[in-house]
Amino acid sequence: MKSTLTEKFKDQYNHNPSAVYFTPGRVNLIGEHIDYNGGLVMPCAITLGTWVAIAPNNDGKFRFRSLNFDAQTEVESNVKHEKDGGNWFNYPIGVINEFLKDGKKIDGIDFLYHGNIPIGSGLSSSASIEIATAFALNEFFNLGYEKLDLVKIAKSVENNFIGVNSGIMDQFAVTFGEQDKAILLDCDTLKNKMVDINLGNYVLAIINTNKPRELAESKYNERVEECQTALKLLNEEITLNNLCELNTEKFLLHNHLLTDQTILNRATHVVKENDRVSLAAKALNAGYLEEFGRLMYASHESLRDLYEVSGKELDTVVEFCMDYEHVIGARMTGAGFGGCAIALLEKGFEEDFTKKLVHFYEDRIGYAADVYVSHIGNGPRQL
Ligand code: GLA
Repeated sequence: MKSTLTEKFKDQYNHNPSAVYFTPGRVNLIGEHIDYNGGLVMPCAITLGTWVAIAPNNDGKFRFRSLNFDAQTEVESNVKHEKDGGNWFNYPIGVINEFLKDGKKIDGIDFLYHGNIPIGSGLSSSASIEIATAFALNEFFNLGYEKLDLVKIAKSVENNFIGVNSGIMDQFAVTFGEQDKAILLDCDTLKNKMVDINLGNYVLAIINTNKPRELAESKYNERVEECQTALKLLNEEITLNNLCELNTEKFLLHNHLLTDQTILNRATHVVKENDRVSLAAKALNAGYLEEFGRLMYASHESLRDLYEVSGKELDTVVEFCMDYEHVIGARMTGAGFGGCAIALLEKGFEEDFTKKLVHFYEDRIGYAADVYVSHIGNGPRQL
């Protein structure tokens, strides 16, 4: 990819790139809709991701182009810019705005991006492009940020520039991911531990529902608000900074305060999902993959019935997995409302699984799903 991107860069800009960087996407193994509630999540970086080639120009302009999109733009460097509709280049522009706020100066740069994370698939193509930009500029210009600063900058871009009130999981995962490891991350304190992923006789399959995710952002923000409502109501009886300070036992002592069934369901998901992450980490450490798989199914059920972020496409995939003899666990991953599911699939059955699942899915949903066997990869780097 480096050489293709270098060639294309020359075609586009008539000069060579000075450096090429890669940043991965992520899957979350378990702990969904937990990060903005201050609990535990267990994501890992994947080998799909975003490449960016950069070179300084002498025009005082930032030029953003991509091999994935026709839309491109050219803006003055060293001044802040507004968000431009739903364009992909809002992500790098948002990052550079944050750098400017910090008093960093960067003169003209030509950027060329390429990504192989399916867009809107819930595998964090947005966090990947944010961190790709932030990491590349930080390295190239020695801006002096720590990796965790870049994570926080990218989260702020999502929250304050793009307008999604997401938590820190995606940016953290794509920045700190390591090959064959998951990150057990406490989203309140940001303390984290790498967990070895030894899947033994299994592989991690990613199934893209290919469902367009039109309403995902507004529904996501609605869930964030519902959790804030639950937190406020619980604070009438106890003092809590976030929902994940409660385990299931303590929650049951106070959940009578949540008289609205929807709010009660949302909070119940959060508290129990957070407990499931600790159990899942223990199961993985001990090599109890069947137990891990059971927790994945329980997570999906809760996201479907209590948190209501699944949908018939993701449910169809998980339903197929439950009946397929060589899968021991499956669930939606990421925000939901379409996007991807993951499954623990016995090695050697990749082809059979793909063929049967695609058939089952297309029959029910009317269009095809895609299946990838994923590898757990490393964080950002220069190539
Ligand atoms: C999206 C958000 C994350 C997280 C997940 C759900 O990926 O960006 O912050 O909330 O949804 O777990």
